[in-house]
Amino acid sequence: MNTLENLQRRFASADFLSFSAIAPGFIAVQVRTDFSAATIALQGAHIMTWQPNGQEPVIWLSPQAKFAPGKSIRGGVPLCWPWFGAHATEAAYPGHGFARTIAWELMDALKLPDGRVRLSFEPVMNNAARAQWPHASTVHYNITVGQELDVALSTTNTDTTPFQLGQALHTYFEIGDIRQASVVGLAGCDFIDKVAGGARLQQDGAINFSGETDRVYLGTTGCCEIRDPVLQRTILITSTGSRSTVVWTPWTEKAEKMGDFGPDGYLKMVCVETANAVDDVITLAPGETHCMAAQYRAIKHG
Ligand code: BG6
Repeated sequence: MNTLENLQRRFASADFLSFSAIAPGFIAVQVRTDFSAATIALQGAHIMTWQPNGQEPVIWLSPQAKFAPGKSIRGGVPLCWPWFGAHATEAAYPGHGFARTIAWELMDALKLPDGRVRLSFEPVMNNAARAQWPHASTVHYNITVGQELDVALSTTNTDTTPFQLGQALHTYFEIGDIRQASVVGLAGCDFIDKVAGGARLQQDGAINFSGETDRVYLGTTGCCEIRDPVLQRTILITSTGSRSTVVWTPWTEKAEKMGDFGPDGYLKMVCVETANAVDDVITLAPGETHCMAAQYRAIKHG
């Protein structure tokens, strides 16, 4: 069981970790390395913060994020699994799947010889999750905290029939001002524009932002970057096992409606999500494993 006392006892020798209850029934683990610090909620194995030493946070967490059992956190790295967006057939199932709102177990925490720290998580499937995902599968999520932040989500089909898997690392990146930031590396890719009612378009040049943006880029190759002239840095995103990239920012009206962005919070974030969505959902045969991984690195200009 994930009680504070149990975790503190189990990981007593891991002096690079500390545990705290950030809200009733809501435990987070703080990771400190020589390069950066991170906080991860056990619910959803949800990375809430990651900040390299001497830099602004790279991962954005809403100042009005709510920490409550069964509710997803606004910001950080929500895990969308085992579907992305609305469920294909069941409108009542939660958007982006249930992985981000169930408990995960911290299985292992290891300091690597180079000083990075690797945490391994597995989901604890509850009854609702089992009802919504009637497939036998195992899931492992590794988070490696160092000069970079590395995340790897792997799913194995332990069933006797194939299943379809949609997923995303729904990462919120911190930026100085969305109106001046751009996303580079998706030029030439087709995308589905959810703001334009699902129109299929093709990206020409860099992505700049002047309103709500909600797009699924298809056939992406696993390398893009966020250019931020205000914080004077570039965030590099490299990924494997992903063929789609979601770019999302709510802008004023939608952020206000969502109610947990804080005043002008939307100006300080952009989601660039390593995903397998829409045309790129994965069909996993019995015995097969699929791993989707991403690495985030922030490079200061000048
Ligand atoms: C994005 C979707 O990935 O997530 C958007 O493309 C959605 O359509 C956004 O609004 C936020 O979703 P949620 O469920 O975390 O509010």
